[in-house]
Amino acid sequence: MAVLSNEEITNIRNRANIVNIIGNYLNLEKKGKNYFGICPFHDDHTPSMSVSPEKQIYTCFVCGASGNVFTFIKDYENISFIEAVNKVAEFSGISINKNINYVKKYDKEYKIYDLALKFYKNNLKSKLGIAAKKYLNDRNISDEIIDEFDIGVSFNDNNLSKLLKSKNYDEDMLLNIGLVNKEQDIYDIFRNRIMFPIHNSNGDCVGFSARIYNNESDSKYINTKETYIFKKGEILFNYHRALREAKKTKTLIICEGQMDAIRIYSSGIKNVCATMGTALTNFHINLIKKLNVKVILNMDSDSAGIKAALQNGELLSKNNIEVSIVTLAGAKDPDEYIIKNGIEQYKESLKHSISLFEFKMNYLKNGKNLNQIDELTKYVNSVIDELNKSDDEILKNITINKLSEEYNIDKNLLLNKLIPKEKKDIVKVSKKKIKLNQNIRAVEEILYYMMNNVKYAKLFTKKLNYIPDRTYFDIEKDIQAYIILNNTINLADFISYETNNEKEKLVLQIINNHNEDIEMSELEFINYINIVNKWIQDNKISELKIELKQENDINRKKEITDLIAKIKRGSEEYGK
Ligand code: CTP
Ligand code: MN
Repeated sequence: MAVLSNEEITNIRNRANIVNIIGNYLNLEKKGKNYFGICPFHDDHTPSMSVSPEKQIYTCFVCGASGNVFTFIKDYENISFIEAVNKVAEFSGISINKNINYVKKYDKEYKIYDLALKFYKNNLKSKLGIAAKKYLNDRNISDEIIDEFDIGVSFNDNNLSKLLKSKNYDEDMLLNIGLVNKEQDIYDIFRNRIMFPIHNSNGDCVGFSARIYNNESDSKYINTKETYIFKKGEILFNYHRALREAKKTKTLIICEGQMDAIRIYSSGIKNVCATMGTALTNFHINLIKKLNVKVILNMDSDSAGIKAALQNGELLSKNNIEVSIVTLAGAKDPDEYIIKNGIEQYKESLKHSISLFEFKMNYLKNGKNLNQIDELTKYVNSVIDELNKSDDEILKNITINKLSEEYNIDKNLLLNKLIPKEKKDIVKVSKKKIKLNQNIRAVEEILYYMMNNVKYAKLFTKKLNYIPDRTYFDIEKDIQAYIILNNTINLADFISYETNNEKEKLVLQIINNHNEDIEMSELEFINYINIVNKWIQDNKISELKIELKQENDINRKKEITDLIAKIKRGSEEYGK
């Protein structure tokens, strides 16, 4: 864990401006005193996330995500708290002198993969690697590209196994992460293949895609098996290298194979990644959403590629990611196309990428002889079917006009085949705040006030000093402890002080449930104190009533009745 003290963490947070930092990830627009952006933590369409420069926190009023600059980066980048602190320091130009040797969750596994990567890379520089290197160079993969992508080669031996063994790594782990197998002894899985390292979205090498180069009879690619750190459906090849440029250009090109991504990237178009031959998954969609980009799909030209473009295009579009599709004439994939025609012509074809709908139209036309009545009928009907899936009235209009003109079909007839769009009610995004009962609401407000101002923490101790709910009361104690430690308190710092998961969650909930529209005042605070006080008294009365029922001694019964009456009077007086 980190050797950073709380003061240092607070110091880093104080010097970071949450608006600037979140602004690196989202487009923020100023409205009033706050900034608003599309929330990256749910499927958001209107800017629901507000960022407060004053409080240095963010809250999403739809999904409830909230926190400070550290929690944002932690959740957005899917990294540990201490890594997030490090990133924030980096963003703000603060150098952390101390060696914060935080441990990533799968640090050991990543180290092993890094070792394997270096091992294979080194092989490629050796004498035995000449044939592999020649294969790569013949495919226009220069030494610079080899170096940049850490491409290596495996030989027909067990030297990696020997190396790993000499390092005394846990054997079960080695077997589980897919570099070696075992019979009597462990042995290398990858043999005689060009080794392409594959990284997760954070840039840790977690697997390999291994290609034949001298044995055409074997299957072309073998990938690392699915492991707990390598899941094909969660990885986009080259994502970690592409993300900066993708955010800058607001565009991401997605192709199918790593060779294609390598070709495009090394030709200078750096916002490119590859699916590694699988269909896009919801996990991929999330990775893409984080970038806030539109996507250009550049699948292979064969029928599998066309199907992939349709399927991936549909998924992207369903998830409100703007998508266009590029088809490359006369080449089976982008790699081949660029080698044949050069990068400039490839750029040109990117400019001519077409919409998913147009791509579908072309697909529906494909192989049909539209001079024949029945094939034309089929085609027009299928276009109408597609139009009926869409809500875009302009698209419908343009398409119907086109069809009518191009094939001389009565326009009204076509229009009549469209299913009229039902008037959908505009669903108002209501503040999806959990309707908590009044007591809990009051407790939350009290704690919210206390997290913002020492004055209220003191007032709480004086007026109430108790909360009849264990977890909330624990938070209250933490607030007091924090104040003793720091002599001051504010929301943004206190969030990072709560390291217990359950309590942290509750703190974020409190922040999110707080109603910004009501001005904070001492009067309001006392009002909440009175509500909780009444709650405490009510609890006491219920307990006493139970005792009263069970009590047989007449004197004690009288005592309890008096006590109940006194509490009732007391809380009435208090309420005045
Ligand atoms: N793939 C795979 N297993 C295979 C074939 C392909 O895992 N047997 C994956 C690889 O990640 C590959 C991608 O699917 O990069 C696309 O496959 P393909 O188009 O056949 O390969 P290319 O990228 O064209 O590779 P190359 O140019 O080296 O033939
Ligand atoms: Mn290829």
